[in-house]
Amino acid sequence: MPIPENLIDQVQNRTDIVEVISKYVPLKKTGRNFKGNCPFHHEKTPSFIVSPDKQIYHCFGCAAGGNVFSFLMKQENITFPEAVEMLAEKVGIVLPRQSGQSKEQASLANQLYKVNELATEYFQYHLANNAQAKEYLAKRGIGPDTIKEFNIGYSPESWDSLLTFFNKKGVASDLLEKAGLVIPNDRGGHYDRFRKRIIFPIVDLKDKTLGFGARVLDASLPKYMNSPETTIYSKGRNLYGLNISREHIKKAGHALIVEGYLDFIIPYQAGVKNLIATLGTALTIDQVKLLKRFANTVIMVYDPDEAGEAASLRNTDIFIAEDVNVYIAELPAGYDPDNYIQKFGAEAFEKLAKSAKNIFDYKIEKLLGRFNIKTSNGKAAVAGEMLPTISKINNAVLRSDLMKRLAEKLGVDPDALKEELKKVKPDYSARQIVAKAVEVRKDTRTAQEMVLAVMLEGGAFVDAVKKSLVPDEFVNTSIRDIVKAIFDMHDQNLEINPAKMISHFNNSSDAAVIISEAVNLSEMMLDKERVLADCIARIKKDNLNYQLTELRSAIKTAHDSNDETRLNDLIKEYDSLIKITKV
Ligand code: CTP
Ligand code: MN
Repeated sequence: MPIPENLIDQVQNRTDIVEVISKYVPLKKTGRNFKGNCPFHHEKTPSFIVSPDKQIYHCFGCAAGGNVFSFLMKQENITFPEAVEMLAEKVGIVLPRQSGQSKEQASLANQLYKVNELATEYFQYHLANNAQAKEYLAKRGIGPDTIKEFNIGYSPESWDSLLTFFNKKGVASDLLEKAGLVIPNDRGGHYDRFRKRIIFPIVDLKDKTLGFGARVLDASLPKYMNSPETTIYSKGRNLYGLNISREHIKKAGHALIVEGYLDFIIPYQAGVKNLIATLGTALTIDQVKLLKRFANTVIMVYDPDEAGEAASLRNTDIFIAEDVNVYIAELPAGYDPDNYIQKFGAEAFEKLAKSAKNIFDYKIEKLLGRFNIKTSNGKAAVAGEMLPTISKINNAVLRSDLMKRLAEKLGVDPDALKEELKKVKPDYSARQIVAKAVEVRKDTRTAQEMVLAVMLEGGAFVDAVKKSLVPDEFVNTSIRDIVKAIFDMHDQNLEINPAKMISHFNNSSDAAVIISEAVNLSEMMLDKERVLADCIARIKKDNLNYQLTELRSAIKTAHDSNDETRLNDLIKEYDSLIKITKV
């Protein structure tokens, strides 16, 4: 049963957003608003605004925004009803019981965090009581303090030990399956996923345990097993160890990127602490963005074998496209950071990291080993491999410098090389293409947002919009839903209140961000009538252009398939639309 809207309103009326947020973020008064460093992304100059008048917050840096509930949901990682309940308690409003559910049961994510926390304790208990597992960790050089800091554990050799342990505590097999800790068998039951393995918990920046990696004690295969993707765990969105190393990375100004669990743990224990581990997979944009919150330079420390080389090359382009400086440190053959440190020590490892080559030198050296640049074919091949990487560099000065160096290295005409770079661009610089598309869409979207912003002022503005636009003309579905809600409220003579509007949409993150952004937009407008007229015209024009493009492609299809009647129909429609654009 949802919480009645009038109770949500009461909680909101008795709460001051500035007071709530101040508990988490130091705020300074500037004019009518308050300003601070955004808690949701890393920044040095404040772009996080809290408005006491409108009871909303918004960050211009990362586009987070919403009302007081949205803030708590994001900050405390809780659901909307949980946020309402938290504040209701504070202001002394009693909410009806949520259909017999306890707080924890409200969100699957929270249940899974709890399960993983308990599982970590279970694995730790079994490590403490298993001589063979302890011996293995000792053999790998992992000391007791490190075991504690990384919450390392052990899953005993059993098909149902974890299952039974949790069932006895009243945790259903179904939930364990959702946590990825057990696997269904074909008799309708379940069995433990991890058996006779060392367990490495994977923990996020809020210290929540998302999943586990598990290694065998001997040479059997597979060497590692990992938690599957779950509601809370997505491999491509987390970096192993960042929860432990974040401050060290910030302080050092750069991060060392290694592949494995042990490649993180052993150097860390030896005093090299500014690392993260990719867990043997290619990095994603999400992971690079996550890392960028802490440092803008990375040094990849990879095995010199072919797989390692391929992995580092695969990973570099994604860093380059995100404007992160990439260096590559190569270990001697047969070594990974773990056994390199065990053999040569932390100092030698740091030295090796310091001698890392920049990506350009690294890649060209690899290519010169593969192709003979005394031949034209060789030159073309090396250029063909280098240009896609260079084209991803966003900084024009850097790009042109590298072009010059490449031309010199290959002994080719710089202008010819530039011609080749142009050919690469459309294919390789997907980021630029996407950026362009986003820009165009943003333009349309901005016009829609501006209209919405003015509508939030209520009164005659809503009438004006209603006269010229129907909700369907708002292409963005989230904006359209908000517009519809405003029209409804206006018809019923209700006050249009941004903070309450966000609650009306149950604090869906889309609605929260759009509305808080709109409020800020509206504060910056000098002449609202003028903005409204311009934006309405813009929306009409964009929609018309879109319809014309669609019609043109339909006309082409009808033409190609000799569909006379349909063709005539389409052309008629096209002509009538074209006439509108001429007025
Ligand atoms: N990995 C995995 N599944 C496998 C093999 C590897 O998930 N079957 C991941 C693990 O995160 C592992 C990383 O890839 O840590 C690197 O693999 P590898 O170099 O083979 O192992 P090491 O980390 O060197 O493991 P160890 O030193 O324990 O042998
Ligand atoms: Mn290893």
